[in-house]
Amino acid sequence: MGTFLVTGATSGIGRAVALRLAEDGHDVIGIGRDETRGAALEDASPRITFLTCDLAESEQVEALMDRLSEDKVVLNGLFNNAATFGRPGTPEWLPTTAFDDVFELNVLATNRIIQRAIPLLVTGGSVVNNAAIVGHVKFPPMLGPYAASKAAVIALTKTFAHRMKGKVRFNAVCFGPVDTPLSHKLYGGEAKFQEAMTHHFRGHAAKPEEVAPVVTFLLSGASSYINGQAITVDGGYTLS
Ligand SMILES: NC(=O)c1ccc[n+]([C@@H]2O[C@H](COP(=O)([O-])OP(=O)(O)OC[C@H]3O[C@@H](n4cnc5c(N)ncnc54)[C@H](OP(=O)(O)O)[C@@H]3O)[C@@H](O)[C@H]2O)c1
Repeated sequence: MGTFLVTGATSGIGRAVALRLAEDGHDVIGIGRDETRGAALEDASPRITFLTCDLAESEQVEALMDRLSEDKVVLNGLFNNAATFGRPGTPEWLPTTAFDDVFELNVLATNRIIQRAIPLLVTGGSVVNNAAIVGHVKFPPMLGPYAASKAAVIALTKTFAHRMKGKVRFNAVCFGPVDTPLSHKLYGGEAKFQEAMTHHFRGHAAKPEEVAPVVTFLLSGASSYINGQAITVDGGYTLS
């Protein structure tokens, strides 16, 4: 059994992955900002420890990773999952500042955490980065900064995979729509999201619990020959 660091563990996909890892007998360090949801996560499993950190604040990320290093935490895997889609807008008119918060969290924090986690990861460890079909195979016009950040996450994934030569594996997951608070917000509320999903290839989005096993598989030794990949998991969404 191992120890896994999961960012954005208080909600949606990250929470489902944290719970799944814990169910499989692993210890999980879950990161997020919301203390109430963090406490609920800890209540859900004695194997989960919640640590508060605003990953958009670089000094908080450094403090978090300092703490893990000082505690001599040994990691078997890392799921970089926390992200924001920022402020949707017409690409011709978006100010460059619209990229700032999106890149700070989605790309710079991810890069910072990977850099600081590498010395803590065991040989044979695995890093999974949560990208998206947006930024990989589908590019909604109003989500330029988010798509660009997810494309950057895929590039980072492949760069680190190449650099680490399999001592630590790096893969990205590119999910289609998943039924979470983030996607509800993106579509302007849960009702609008559910309505839009009736046009999904199979009529509805995935639940976080449906996609979590893909992440736990990539984090495990069972996926030992998969490295440097961006894997689309969308129930056929991008076929249509
Ligand atoms: N849902 C989809 O359809 C979909 C599709 C493709 C890819 N994804 C990707 O999946 C990932 C998770 O999204 P989700 O849909 O599961 O969203 P979610 O339910 O809204 O969860 C987002 C998580 O990120 C954390 N988070 C956000 N900003 C943070 C910050 N500054 N510092 C620390 N934690 C932060 C949140 O925790 P706190 O609120 O506690 O801070 C929360 O735990 C994202 O990378 C997203 O791009 C989602």
